[in-house]
Parts: sequence; structure tokens; C-alpha cells
Amino acid sequence: MAINLTWKFVEPELDAIAGHEGRVVVIVSSDAKIDQLGRRVNKLTRGAVARAIESEAFEKASLGQVISLNYPAGVAANAVDIVKLDRRSDALMSRKAGVAIAKAVGSKDALILAGSLKNAVDLVQGYALRAYEFSDHKTENTEDKEAAITVMLSKAAEQSAACETALAIVDGVHFTRDLTNEPSNILTTTEFANRLVALKDHGVEVEVLEEADLEKLGMRALMGVGQGSDSPSKVVVIQWNGGAENAQPFALIGKGVVFDTGGISLKPAGGMEDMTMDMGGAGVVAGTMLSLAKRKAAANVVALVGLVENMPSGNAQRPGDVVTSMKGDTIEVINTDAEGRLVLCDVMWYAQERFNPTGMIDLATLTGAIIIGLGHENAGVFSNDDALCDGLLAAAKTQGEGAWRMPLGEAYDKKLKSRIADVKNVGDRAAGSITAAAFLQRFVKDNTPWAHIDIAGVASTKTETPYAPVGASGWGVMTLNQLIRDMCEKD
Ligand code: BES
Ligand code: ZN
Ligand code: ZN
Repeated sequence: MAINLTWKFVEPELDAIAGHEGRVVVIVSSDAKIDQLGRRVNKLTRGAVARAIESEAFEKASLGQVISLNYPAGVAANAVDIVKLDRRSDALMSRKAGVAIAKAVGSKDALILAGSLKNAVDLVQGYALRAYEFSDHKTENTEDKEAAITVMLSKAAEQSAACETALAIVDGVHFTRDLTNEPSNILTTTEFANRLVALKDHGVEVEVLEEADLEKLGMRALMGVGQGSDSPSKVVVIQWNGGAENAQPFALIGKGVVFDTGGISLKPAGGMEDMTMDMGGAGVVAGTMLSLAKRKAAANVVALVGLVENMPSGNAQRPGDVVTSMKGDTIEVINTDAEGRLVLCDVMWYAQERFNPTGMIDLATLTGAIIIGLGHENAGVFSNDDALCDGLLAAAKTQGEGAWRMPLGEAYDKKLKSRIADVKNVGDRAAGSITAAAFLQRFVKDNTPWAHIDIAGVASTKTETPYAPVGASGWGVMTLNQLIRDMCEKD
């Protein structure tokens, strides 16, 4: 019950405009210029477009904004949407305009008169990103909404390949949002693993490691988190080998806590329902793999997600328990609600042991503290490698996804000294996001370039974000695609 868009990219054809149903989108530059396609709409509507452009509303509108004319005479369409956008606008501005158009159009059919717009691909991507709703559990709509979007643009055949790539990335973003929005009684560890196994249809290899396998590998830190739940813990390994044969892969690791009650260190009731999104890191990793496969990325990338549920029960892990990680380090579990790092440390160690990756990025809704620090605007980035970190921040910038580097260092790591074990799983209240990252860094080998992204503030929000309605954002899928494109794919 999502919005399924069917896209068509065609050469401009003036005579096809009048009869097009749904909505017609006209682009007008900030100096009030319209192209030949816009002039045809203006003529058909007997000057309605020109009148709108002369209005105060248009003058005051910011770039990328839409002004709608409803039920105009002279065209079959129900509305003409006028977008204020310069022909040579940059990629992010064009994407912003695409988002605004999608909001205006909703789930209707549309004809977008892009003409010679420089970054039409980004406008298309923006539109597709925003044309999303999570209505699977609303009984009133039992069928997917369908909409046909026709884009008239010059060099349509040439540009359509780039548009298809942009749309493949959006499919990954939507897959992430679907996973992250799904309630936890539906997206159990088993259901999550099944949805990942289904990615095989797109050409990725998928393996599911079950509890017996995890036990053999010695992943006691991860298993301790899941032991209070009736849902079995799992690690899923997804490989996309689009690069050189046998070349070392890049590794993506995701925290997949399908629900985080806090365990015996139980969270307060208010807002606990938000913890259905505590698998957001695994969701981003999964969506990225789908988009890499769909766009046939020329890179070897492996994704590993740790899927567990953090529940209190007679068999749950207790505060004060000591567990031995796969690496061999013993961990004193002071707070069972600091469970994400216990899951990630074993998955990260396994990823390095098995794949010897060229680099590794983990994503996790790891700490509430990162929301205090950075709000919902930026994810927190921690790294042991300036080149990887700079590449990541640059990729995020080109994609309009907020990311901000945070520090690491010996002084933070010291806060994790345990009286009875090698390390404890929490520091004190100060710098909670940084001590969490410092914990993870203990499980990173010296020669592995690594970045940790704390996405607790950006994975799902209560207000709409630049590309998404309220709820899961899919933050990071576009950034990771760009990073892999920049770092791993040779042209
Ligand atoms: N899943 C939470 C972090 C979180 C909080 C994600 C809010 C999204 C929104 C994580 O497992 C957690 O509970 N962290 C604790 C750590 C503390 C016990 C050291 C936290 O942030 O309070
Ligand atoms: Zn927790
Ligand atoms: Zn958590």
C-alpha cells in the first residue's frame, strides 16, 4: 500500500500537453522566464500561467517552491503546478523542487515539463523520494496507489539511464523506510531475515547465521542481548560482488535491534513505542545493498546485520553480568539498555575476521545522547581514519544528508574501565555518544579504516524531513551509495 510510480521519459511534444490528465508541472525561472513548453500551457490556459507568474505570491516564493492553479480551463489536467526553478539550478536545488512537486501532486498522475532543465535527474529523484507513504496497516486502502509520471525532457533517451539509476537508489531508500516504519510484532528477527533473503532476487548473496552458528563463533555479547526474547537472534550476511573478482570488499554493519525495551534496565513507558526503529542501522545497510544491486554498482560490498530483540524476561541478561565477546574481550554489562554496542562489537569483529575489508562503516541508532548533541538535523560520525571520514562527510554533503564529525580519544576510552572485566558497556552520563563509539573502537583492528555513524536522531522523526514525510527517513542510503561510488567504483 505504497505509492507505485511508473515513469516515462519522453522528448518534448507540444501537442501532447493539452490532453494530459492528472496534473501538469511547469518550470519557471526566478526572472519569470518560461520555455516553449510552459508557453504552450500558458496559451492553452488563456494566460493563467503568466498571471500567476506576475503575482506577488510568485515573487515571494523561494526557489524550489510550487504554486498551484486548480481546475484551469483549456487543459484536461486538474491542476497546473508552477515551480520556481532556474534552468541551471544545482543538483540539490533541483531535488528540492522535485520534493515540492511530489508534495503538491500527491498520488495523482503527472506530466512534468522539464525541457532543458540541467539537473532533471535530480528533480526526478527528489520527486520519487517524497512520493512515499507507509499505509500498510490502514484498512481503508487495501490496494497500492498507482501513478504514472511522464517527464518531457530534451535528450530523453540519454537522460533516462541516469534517471533509472537515481530511481534505483530511491528504491533502496524506500526499502529502508519500510523496514524502519514496520512495527516490531511484524518485523521480528525472523521476518527481517526473510525480507533480506528475498533480496537474492536482485542478485545479492544472502546467508543467515542462526543461534547455533553464533554460539560456535563465540558471539556471546550479541547473544546476551537477545537471550531474554522469544525471537531468535540472527546475523545476516549480504554480499554484492559487482567489482573485481576476489577483490577485498568494503563492509557495512548495521544495528538491528527489532525492539529495544531496555531489557532489565527497562526504559520508561512514555515514548517506548519509538524503539520499533532501533533496527534503523540494519535498515539503512539493507536499503543500500538493494540500491547497489539495482544500479549494478561496480564494487564489492558486504553487509552484516545483527538482528536481536532486547526484552526483559526470566532468562534475560542482568545488569552486572559478564560476557565474553567473539574477539575474546570480556564485557561487564552495567546497563542492559546499552545493548547496541554489544550487538555491533561481535558483528564488526566477525566482519573483519572473515572479510578483511578495505574499510568498515557501522550504522546504529546507538544513543539518545546524540539527539541531545545534534538534534534531528545531523547524524554523528566517529572515525579512526581522516580520509574515510572526509569522504563520508563529502558524500553526505552532496546528498543533502546532515552529518557531523565527533571526537574520539584515549580520555573517553578510560571511562569504560571495569573493576572485574576488560571493559564495561557504559561510561558515566557525560559524552554518552562518544563513550559508546569508544567502546566500538576496541573492536576495530588497527589497520581497518572505520567510521561509526550514530543515526538515533535522523533515522525516524516526528516532523517531515527534506526528503521524507513523518516517520522513517532512510537517511544514509544516498550517502553510502555516493561514498561507494566515489571510493570503490573505478570509472
Ligand atoms: N536504542 C537506544 C538509543 C536511542 C534513543 C535510539 C533514542 C533512538 C532514540 C539505545 O540502545 C539506548 O538505549 N541507549 C542508551 C544508552 C545508555 C544506557 C548508556 C541511551 O541513549 O540512553
Ligand atoms: Zn537500549
Ligand atoms: Zn537500542
